[in-house]
Amino acid sequence: MANSVDADRIVLRPARPSDSASLAALAHEAYGKYLGLVDEPPAPILLDYDEVASSDRAHVAEEDGRVVGMVTVERDDPHLILRNLAVRPACQGLGIGRLLVAFVEDSARAAGLAGVRLWTRAEMTDNIAFYRRLDYVLTHSERGAGAHRVFFSKELARTLPTALERTS
Ligand SMILES: CC(C)(COP(=O)(O)OP(=O)(O)OC[C@H]1O[C@@H](n2cnc3c(N)ncnc32)[C@H](O)[C@@H]1OP(=O)(O)O)[C@@H](O)C(=O)NCCC(=O)NCCS
Repeated sequence: MANSVDADRIVLRPARPSDSASLAALAHEAYGKYLGLVDEPPAPILLDYDEVASSDRAHVAEEDGRVVGMVTVERDDPHLILRNLAVRPACQGLGIGRLLVAFVEDSARAAGLAGVRLWTRAEMTDNIAFYRRLDYVLTHSERGAGAHRVFFSKELARTLPTALERTS
């Protein structure tokens, strides 16, 4: 990546209740570009960030004490579901999204889970390109309730031996 953030400057940590306003602002900034593209506001814009920030499902990426990214997950054995991922628009394209996804994958491995699953909207073609770039496989799509969702999966049991083979 030509322009990438210095990973040492990014701190990944659990969200705290005091992050609530930052997370709500981040969701509006990051997902705001989809207003008008899809019928209703994207679900992450409508979340109760007091609840999200107080839960154990959210982590933030912080740079110099400022929240620049967030990710939320939900356990659905044998997978970890990546529910919400956002990077401040001014900080996108620098590798922070990749760091957050790698963190989710590490968390899934540490919990002994088989992999990570997620869905996005078919209209959000940037996301489809992003997850493909991170080796997620598009498994299927579903139309319903006015939404066209595409589902991605990364099975970590298959990727781990491949990574080990590369180093041997
Ligand atoms: C999706 C999102 C989280 C990506 O975060 P980011 O920090 O900009 O992504 P990164 O810089 O870490 O990119 C990681 C890789 O994906 C690639 N990538 C990112 N967006 C891409 C796109 N639209 N098309 C093709 N490749 C893309 C990058 O080039 C990079 O590749 P490399 O590391 O091999 O060079 C961010 O764009 C965002 O917040 N979007 C709005 C909210 C949203 O839609 N979230 C997803 C919900 S499912």
